[in-house]
Amino acid sequence: MAATDLERFSNAEAEPRSLSLGGHVGFDSLPDQLVSKSVTQGFSFNILCVGETGIGKSTLMNTLFNTNFETEEASHHEACVRLRPQTYDLQESNVQLKLTIVDAVGFGDQINKDESYRPIVDYIDAQFENYLQEELKIRRSLFDYHDTRIHVCLYFITPTGHSLKSLDLVTMKKLDSKVNIIPIIAKADTISKSELHKFKIKIMGELVSNGVQIYQFPTDDEAVAEINAVMNAHLPFAVVGSTEEVKVGNKLVRARQYPWGVVQVENENHCDFVKLREMLIRVNMEDLREQTHSRHYELYRRCKLEEMGFQDSDGDSQPFSLQETYEAKRKEFLSELQRKEEEMRQMFVNKVKETELELKEKERELHEKFEHLKRVHQEEKRKVEEKRHELEEETNAFNRRKAAVEALQSQALHATSQQPLRKDKDKKKASGWSSIYSVTIP
Ligand code: GTP
Ligand code: MG
Repeated sequence: MAATDLERFSNAEAEPRSLSLGGHVGFDSLPDQLVSKSVTQGFSFNILCVGETGIGKSTLMNTLFNTNFETEEASHHEACVRLRPQTYDLQESNVQLKLTIVDAVGFGDQINKDESYRPIVDYIDAQFENYLQEELKIRRSLFDYHDTRIHVCLYFITPTGHSLKSLDLVTMKKLDSKVNIIPIIAKADTISKSELHKFKIKIMGELVSNGVQIYQFPTDDEAVAEINAVMNAHLPFAVVGSTEEVKVGNKLVRARQYPWGVVQVENENHCDFVKLREMLIRVNMEDLREQTHSRHYELYRRCKLEEMGFQDSDGDSQPFSLQETYEAKRKEFLSELQRKEEEMRQMFVNKVKETELELKEKERELHEKFEHLKRVHQEEKRKVEEKRHELEEETNAFNRRKAAVEALQSQALHATSQQPLRKDKDKKKASGWSSIYSVTIP
């Protein structure tokens, strides 16, 4: 649509006029239609439980929904925090509720807790991303889409009576722009009344001084403004969980029994369980769902779309065009792709050159080594030749000496056989040997 057309249409928009009706028309049934439609459709509600292993998360969930979700106990030896979602179909009167409870398994069990918040943040973002992808589809079916976005995070604080741990502060700070946080002091029966009072004040002070935004029960709806304002002052709720039933008077109540007495879960003098149930389920469940959509998801969606290059027009300039944004983003993407391709090509060429140089260097080294070995070999060969020559000469000399000795021996023998007398023989022999020994051997 051309800009001029748009201008014409927006100018055509006139101030609405108030008119009175002559009689009953029927659109006052719209709220009833809305309720009826919502009831038919059913509701989904997703709770994230963050707290140390064994802090009482599952017990509190069982107590809140008055059922047994049969969750397994977590081990204390998880290498990192793991998110475990479990979905249940619940029904009360004619209202269907698809409830998902997500447990942050292994939270607080690692020696290095620096990154403990990350899997939780990633999980929340992943649910937002799934919803955004569904919204961006051409054929979207948000009507029957199972919305897994986290509506509330119950943050379980250990009842130390001292102050918040840095892990609690860091985690809540990382989550506060993504989810509605309701902090609760778990196992509140393990802390005395006066200590609990001080502990609550300390926690709220620390949250404020560290800029952690927790969920505030809304006070803009007159019907609930008063109770919500009162309840905001009671945060963080100190709760006790139990599914065990104990007889108090003539009534069976959910409680924890100790040798010195009974802690009743639903007794407001004992703990804030009733306040939590009232605020979470009976009064503000819809507001938590709404806030998730209009505040947290909206923020995620805005950042994501801005990242993708979309932006709204400021009042005076041309209206935002999806097609132009898409074209601009496409061009940007293509040029980025080209730049990366060129970079990679250059990298490849450089790598090939480097490898070629390395290979040449190696070849030269090998050649030098070969030449050296060749010289050494020739030298050895020459020495062996010399040795052989010497040995041959020695052998020849030896053979000559041997031949001379043999010749002399045979001469001597011959001379001896000519002597008639032994005496003379001996004399002659003696002189003969002396003559032999006087022969100079060449
Ligand atoms: P993992 O899922 O294993 O991390 O544990 P969890 O946080 O779900 O704790 P779970 O509800 O299994 O409770 C652990 C233990 O704490 C059990 O023995 C419970 O009976 C006990 N417990 C739960 N709630 C309370 C409470 O309010 N007060 C006290 N004193 N003990 C509680
Ligand atoms: Mg559990």
